[in-house]
Amino acid sequence: MTNIADYVFHNVPAQLSPLEQFLDPFTRAELGEIAPGSGARYLDLGAGGGSVTRMLSELAGETGHVDAIDQDTHMTPTGPNIDVHTQDLSKGEPLLAPGPFDLVHARLLTHHLENRVEFVHQLAGSLKPGGWLLLGEFVRSAPRVVSAPSERHAEAFRRVLDGLYDVMTARHTHGSWGHEVHRTMLDAGLTAVRTRWHFESWTGGGHGCRLFENNVSQKRDAMVEAGVPAADIDLFLTDLMHNPDMVVRSHEFVSIRGRRA
Ligand SMILES: C[S@@+](CC[C@H](N)C(=O)[O-])C[C@H]1O[C@@H](n2cnc3c(N)ncnc32)[C@H](O)[C@@H]1O
Repeated sequence: MTNIADYVFHNVPAQLSPLEQFLDPFTRAELGEIAPGSGARYLDLGAGGGSVTRMLSELAGETGHVDAIDQDTHMTPTGPNIDVHTQDLSKGEPLLAPGPFDLVHARLLTHHLENRVEFVHQLAGSLKPGGWLLLGEFVRSAPRVVSAPSERHAEAFRRVLDGLYDVMTARHTHGSWGHEVHRTMLDAGLTAVRTRWHFESWTGGGHGCRLFENNVSQKRDAMVEAGVPAADIDLFLTDLMHNPDMVVRSHEFVSIRGRRA
């Protein structure tokens, strides 16, 4: 399978399902506070498997509308109030779904885009007065082991996760962008800007470790090429991520929202 544009991963259920299980509660809580409800116009960017597109569709109701955009829409749901558009958002081109919108959402998209700063400004400009922009990003942090059966297991986990993050960075994934979004939203003229951080501890065999496992299995060859020991990667995939004696810190997720005055 070839990558679409320069995106570092392939959209597969083994990746997107555990991702949604991890993040949907945080996104649902944000939407519970800011979503305008039925009859409104919503936009979901980098919609992927579409769990948030579905949430927005329920909020919009029969009288509202949701546009979902991704460069790979094969898993994105359609529906009576949903239009799905296929677009590479790294080009700086006008959105295929023109605004104005009451709420624009993008989760784990903008840290993959070279044009991320301009893109946030573009999204701020696509909002109705009073409309909300809600972004979610992973922020790179030091891999952390909470408990492990041995130091060998702990070291292998740290080496493999650092190797994954290095490969993602080499493929234009900006690990510190999440720190910059708050300032960028203020610069784009948004008000009521607020940032919240989320992370969890994950046990081997659980949904979070399935996400780590899929991320690493997708990037195995590139990681070996970059010098990560194959023995560590194999231990990670066949043992660590299934081992109930392994407890590790999740990816760190940051949720940032801002409102057009
Ligand atoms: C990690 S997935 C997140 C999916 C979904 N937002 C979620 O949080 O469940 C990142 C999504 O961004 C999309 N994406 C990455 N680069 C893109 C680009 N240049 N243009 C459009 N979509 C892109 C991918 O296809 C993928 O669906």
